[in-house]
Amino acid sequence: MAALFLWIPLLVALRVRLGSTEAQQTTLYPLVGRIFVHTLDHATFFHPPEDTATLPSASITYHARLQGHPDLPRWLRYTQRSPSQPGFLYGTATPGDRGRQIIEVTAYNRDTFDTTQQTLVLLIQDPEGSRLPYQAEFLVRSHDVEEVLPSTPTSRFLMALGGLWEPGELQVLNITSALDCGGRVPLPIEGRKEGVYIKVGSASPFSTCLKMVASPDSQARCAQGQSPLLSCYDTLAPHFRIDWCNVSLVDKSVPAPEDEVSTLGDGILEYDPFFCPPTEATARDFLTDALVTLLVPLLVALLLTLILAYVMCCRREGRLKRDLATSDIQMVHHSTIHGNTEELRQMADTREVPRPLSTLPMFNVRTGERLPPRVDSAQVPLILDQH
Ligand SMILES: *[C@@H]1O[C@H](CO)[C@@H](O)[C@H](O)[C@H]1NC(C)=O
Ligand SMILES: *[C@@H]1O[C@H](CO)[C@@H](O)[C@H](O)[C@H]1NC(C)=O
Repeated sequence: MAALFLWIPLLVALRVRLGSTEAQQTTLYPLVGRIFVHTLDHATFFHPPEDTATLPSASITYHARLQGHPDLPRWLRYTQRSPSQPGFLYGTATPGDRGRQIIEVTAYNRDTFDTTQQTLVLLIQDPEGSRLPYQAEFLVRSHDVEEVLPSTPTSRFLMALGGLWEPGELQVLNITSALDCGGRVPLPIEGRKEGVYIKVGSASPFSTCLKMVASPDSQARCAQGQSPLLSCYDTLAPHFRIDWCNVSLVDKSVPAPEDEVSTLGDGILEYDPFFCPPTEATARDFLTDALVTLLVPLLVALLLTLILAYVMCCRREGRLKRDLATSDIQMVHHSTIHGNTEELRQMADTREVPRPLSTLPMFNVRTGERLPPRVDSAQVPLILDQH
């Protein structure tokens, strides 16, 4: 009976799996060097009318992977706080990721055992418009990563940050959970959050206020546990609690020459203008090499076998030859000894007296009983009469 109940959900799951094979396809356009966020919404995966009533409480989990691979590409991350909340795919593509990537997302409905699949076609392109050489990374302590991924909090963050920066268009370049950068999971106390790093880029230079925050003076104060020098009004303050000790500014407006200089050493050759890389190797015929390698030892082995066979079979000195080489008198002598020994052996076989005591064990091994020799063995004649 219990087995039957175990089978029912399995069969339901199987039917659903077979039933929903048609996959939706969506095309998205991430930009190299800009944050890309895609929300995995419950409604886009399970939209039939009968599902709508149960949607708010539905618990759905997702599994996303690069097509043909077990996991996501390196630049893309997946996060979901709990099965009742939406999941997010987010990350910043690098120049090496340019092109087409196909992500397969499978959604599992934990209540109905329903599964659906969606295919996301990512066409990763270079961003248009001006470069954003001025980049700053902020550690926002008041938020978890899922809370800043939707577009509303992000744009609110940029608006608030605009009050600190020179006027100009600000763009989010990268969002990373502090947990991915060595942060710790906070204690389960109200208001404690994991924290999130937000990297913002702009075409206009940093304000003096930001420069001052990141100055060595401020860093020195931070190292002593004091608050850094914030010369302007913290426009982010009510909503976003920024760790002003962890602001890092990167100015890429002057191309850094040291990026190009690679240190000579392992694997890096000195620059040689006359170096001419080897052309493609010509095809070589290894047949003769192989034959020589195999045949020479084979021939030597065969030769040795033949010599050994000749020595063993054709040059054998048999018994006959030995007997012929021995003098006659020696042969007679030898055969007489031989014959006498045989005769003595036969005589010993036929006598019917007990074995000499000297050849018996002194005591019985099993009972431990000692058998004193009846006769002194020295007086027993070697050849006994029968009576
Ligand atoms: C985004 O930030 C994470 C964490 O700091 C880093 O590993 C990753 O390389 C960054 N992505 C880009 C494109 O800079
Ligand atoms: C914040 O900055 C301080 C000082 O630079 C550093 O010691 C600390 O590790 C940083 N914290 C995080 C979470 O990065």
